[in-house]
Amino acid sequence: MEGYRLNQLFTQEQIASIVQGLADQISKDYDGRELVVVCILKGAFMFLSDLIRHLRMPVQVDFVRLASYGSGMKTCGKIEITKDVEIPLEKKDVLIIEDIIDSGRTLKFLKDHLALSNPRSIKVCALLDKKARREVEMEADYLGTDVDDVFIVGYGIDFNEHYRYLPEIYYVTPIDPSKE
Ligand code: IMP
Ligand code: MG
Repeated sequence: MEGYRLNQLFTQEQIASIVQGLADQISKDYDGRELVVVCILKGAFMFLSDLIRHLRMPVQVDFVRLASYGSGMKTCGKIEITKDVEIPLEKKDVLIIEDIIDSGRTLKFLKDHLALSNPRSIKVCALLDKKARREVEMEADYLGTDVDDVFIVGYGIDFNEHYRYLPEIYYVTPIDPSKE
């Protein structure tokens, strides 16, 4: 996109090592059990597909899509489900897969919503966390890594639908033409 610069934050190798570490922890904790992973579309799709390949237990996969109203870069106001889970979650161990935790509102909303189906447990696995921006209480049970308050793209994560396909993770900064 014109007017923005991409600054690399994590290489493919660094991401792979973070994902492997998370998969090892999850495989250990859920040993001997079955898991339903619920991926939040669209941002977490690449993370999900890499993560589940390394899990060492039977896994069922489902997806939700949420719409939030507010400005493009911030989750505020009302969150709505535009695509709900299809697998029955009652008595299941559920693990939500999210790309980035920012205000925490999306995950809080989804956790509360999924809890209505009476799962046996609900935990959260997030690749990235911008803790400085938290507005509601929310901690990932499994966290890849913290990031500063920057705008992230790549590895499934977009800026107005751009950059999702990039295999690395970047942060976006505006280009000041007067300084070029
Ligand atoms: P929250 O509800 O404020 O925690 O927002 C979480 C959602 O906002 C994530 O699922 C992302 O889709 C989006 N988001 C938060 N930070 C970024 C970012 O830096 N780049 C792209 N999307 C982001
Ligand atoms: Mg998202």
